[in-house]
Amino acid sequence: MVALDIQAFLADGFALREHLETFLKLPPGELEPRMAAATDALAQLQPTALDASGCERFYETDVGTGHLFELAGWHLQSADYIADTLRVQMTAAHGDHLDFGGGIGSHALAAAALPQVRRVWMVDLNGTNREFVAWRARRLGLQDRIICCRDLDDGQLPQRFDSMTCLDVLEHVPDPAGLLGQLADRLTPEGGMALLNWYFFKGFQGEYPFHIDDPTLVHRFFEVLQDRLLERFHPYLITARTYTLRSQG
Ligand SMILES: C[S@@+](CC[C@H](N)C(=O)[O-])C[C@H]1O[C@@H](n2cnc3c(N)ncnc32)[C@H](O)[C@@H]1O
Repeated sequence: MVALDIQAFLADGFALREHLETFLKLPPGELEPRMAAATDALAQLQPTALDASGCERFYETDVGTGHLFELAGWHLQSADYIADTLRVQMTAAHGDHLDFGGGIGSHALAAAALPQVRRVWMVDLNGTNREFVAWRARRLGLQDRIICCRDLDDGQLPQRFDSMTCLDVLEHVPDPAGLLGQLADRLTPEGGMALLNWYFFKGFQGEYPFHIDDPTLVHRFFEVLQDRLLERFHPYLITARTYTLRSQG
């Protein structure tokens, strides 16, 4: 199995530049400016408030390749932070592992290369992201270990996952509490482990207009979090947290 370890991620984001240039057939010199401009470009695409169907259309269609550039720029520029999330993921991922909102696939690919993981199920609304991750998996010889799906209703997906990663996604969906409840419903009760983070904030300069920050939605999210999940300590980051299911009853 290929070694997609922390060193490999820190070296080049698992060959991320080369993968993006080849996948998107970019002319030389285009990638760096596109990555640098990507957060502003995404922000300009989206009006501040979207209803559920507007949200879905935005991430599935309107962003196009926008998230590929934005996430690639972020993963390369903040490689130390992403590497810490990969370190946490190594402590949690096992068996059938779900990466919900997997983006460019750094976490899904790293999980797929772990011997304790049987298969990675990457769910992402955006078809370009799914194609890119499936393409990267083939390039890295991991095609038999990652399956990409649009949503949790895909019949290929297991009913329960032994572990799940959902990083930087909850603030993008119209009903974060609803998504969290769905994820909790799909986590294995015995030994299931979820790695989650969230950022319910539009940014000090409003640079993330697509983030949900409605106080009622955020309040409801924390109610569900505290009702369904119990935090498990890890020593890497305080923003990315790991959880087991609370025993009910
Ligand atoms: C900010 S990116 C995070 C990507 C990745 N988890 C990471 O940490 O780099 C959010 C991702 O969630 C996906 N997404 C947004 N809404 C979604 C939904 N309702 N279902 C599945 N994926 C969704 C987007 O297409 C995008 O890839």
